[in-house]
Amino acid sequence: GAAQPVIVAIDGPSGTGKSSTSKAVAGQLGLSYLDTGAQYRAITWWMVHNGIDIDDASAIAAVAGKPEIVSGTDPAAPTIHVDGVDVSGPIRTQEVTSKVSAVSAVPEVRTRITELQRSIAAGAGNGIVVEGRDIGTTVLPDADLKIFLTASAEARAARRSGELGQGTDVAATREALIKRDAADSSRKTSPLAKAADAVEVDTTELTLAQVIECVVTLVEEKRAGK
Ligand code: DC
Repeated sequence: GAAQPVIVAIDGPSGTGKSSTSKAVAGQLGLSYLDTGAQYRAITWWMVHNGIDIDDASAIAAVAGKPEIVSGTDPAAPTIHVDGVDVSGPIRTQEVTSKVSAVSAVPEVRTRITELQRSIAAGAGNGIVVEGRDIGTTVLPDADLKIFLTASAEARAARRSGELGQGTDVAATREALIKRDAADSSRKTSPLAKAADAVEVDTTELTLAQVIECVVTLVEEKRAGK
């Protein structure tokens, strides 16, 4: 008969290849794809756009329910809209990147976005690959497969600088990345963490193709009931 929907959670810090891996795995296996970091970036963009003081957690909490956030889950062309505006470009600016940890630490923001993530996962017919920081621990604790990607700080900074393009200051990128991961890992509500039942994959010495193959194999083994 038809395969059961499979739910895959992929967590880890920035620069571990989470997005590239998750999109490719979803594409190869015919699953939907959800970038939860893009949702936190989108709500952060909305806060900045509306002049909300990022240092004021109660101001953020008061309006956390206001923006309408819509994620398109085709792994070949993921999309993100806020109140009908395509924000896929604006959410990647340095301004949003530097503010997203503060906004995503606010409990009311997390409750709101977590509910959205659960309803998207529940509605994905064939199953879904959901990438983020707290998917295996909090958002989808009953996921069929949980992956936790890691890599050395050097490897992560080099990859992120490569994505940002020529002339990027690798040392500055490394510092910003370490700072953001420390903030994401130490916040009170639902920090970046490896679930007890997650499979840890250290990608430092692996090519993207190798990481994809590793995860695809793990999903196929799960589906085969191993
Ligand atoms: O994956 P990314 O770099 O686009 O994520 C941006 C930020 O969003 C990250 O620094 C912390 C936050 N985030 C989160 O708190 N929980 C998630 N599940 C995903 C992202």
